[in-house]
Amino acid sequence: MSGDYQLVQLANGEKTLFSASYGEKMHPGLGPQAEAELLYIRQLKICERMQGGAGEFVIWDVGLGGAANAIALLKATRNIPGQLRLVSFDNTIEPLEFALQNAAVLGYAAGHEDPLSELIQHRRAVFQNGKLSVNWEFHLGDFPALLKESSRRRESTPSLIESSLSQLTLAATKISPPHAIFYDAFSPAKNPAMWTLPVFENLFRALDPARPCALTTYSRSTLLRTTLLLAGFFVGVGHATGMKEETTIAANSSDLIAEPLNQRWLERARRSHSAEPMMEPVYRIAPMSEEFWGKLQAHPQFAAK
Ligand SMILES: C[S@@+](CC[C@H](N)C(=O)[O-])C[C@H]1O[C@@H](n2cnc3c(N)ncnc32)[C@H](O)[C@@H]1O
Repeated sequence: MSGDYQLVQLANGEKTLFSASYGEKMHPGLGPQAEAELLYIRQLKICERMQGGAGEFVIWDVGLGGAANAIALLKATRNIPGQLRLVSFDNTIEPLEFALQNAAVLGYAAGHEDPLSELIQHRRAVFQNGKLSVNWEFHLGDFPALLKESSRRRESTPSLIESSLSQLTLAATKISPPHAIFYDAFSPAKNPAMWTLPVFENLFRALDPARPCALTTYSRSTLLRTTLLLAGFFVGVGHATGMKEETTIAANSSDLIAEPLNQRWLERARRSHSAEPMMEPVYRIAPMSEEFWGKLQAHPQFAAK
């Protein structure tokens, strides 16, 4: 929606973007710079993983918005010699254009105007960020629809060929499977389409089982955590960030989860009034059904305990 974004000041003086149509701010706690750094970069141990790994490191930036998470990533990794593929998704370019127009006031984007302009114009920016070679792609479109299409294509691919594919086909574009995911949509109440079980099932299918991948997001809700578990992820307690005493980390490998959700959490989820995953893009609160409770107990994170 054109004209949807405004600048707002947070209690700590930081400036961020506010979307009138969602009625929500981006990075409402600590502000764009600090929240991106703590919640996504540090929690996912991006620098450590990039330094320890060989070859291209792939990050999916879901909900590019005003690119605060992406720019925090560029700042944190500029002294790492290597290659980064940053794959950003959003269904609108408006917040990115708005952030670029207001780069000086927002602060975090200042000095990164060139790759942002390049991304807006060409949906791609290839550049040197200090010692790091960066290949930044922007996929404009509905993320759940892109994942669904990719899942459908994979199912229609003969299994022999499929197993030899190392790249994911997303809507006719080959996109490398990620090592890490920044999952930063608006809240489940305002943006339910991004938080359904089918979306996370398709996201899990899009991962390469041979490539350990971790995802973080700002929510710690039981609803989100049961959804991630039922989609196939291992799920753990995430670091506190500003106003949030806990966040969430999920991964396709339990090695990437320092503090996995335990039996006590499972029992609390069983009693929660809001633990049933959303199957449709309509926000609703409901306790967990018997069907999902059975599946959750059988999840490898809990079944062996
Ligand atoms: C909280 S903001 C992201 C903030 C951003 N990560 C940053 O660092 O500035 C959420 C973003 O999700 C995007 N979004 C919402 N629904 C979407 C959908 N169905 N597909 C793709 N992106 C979507 C919004 O347009 C918005 O830019």
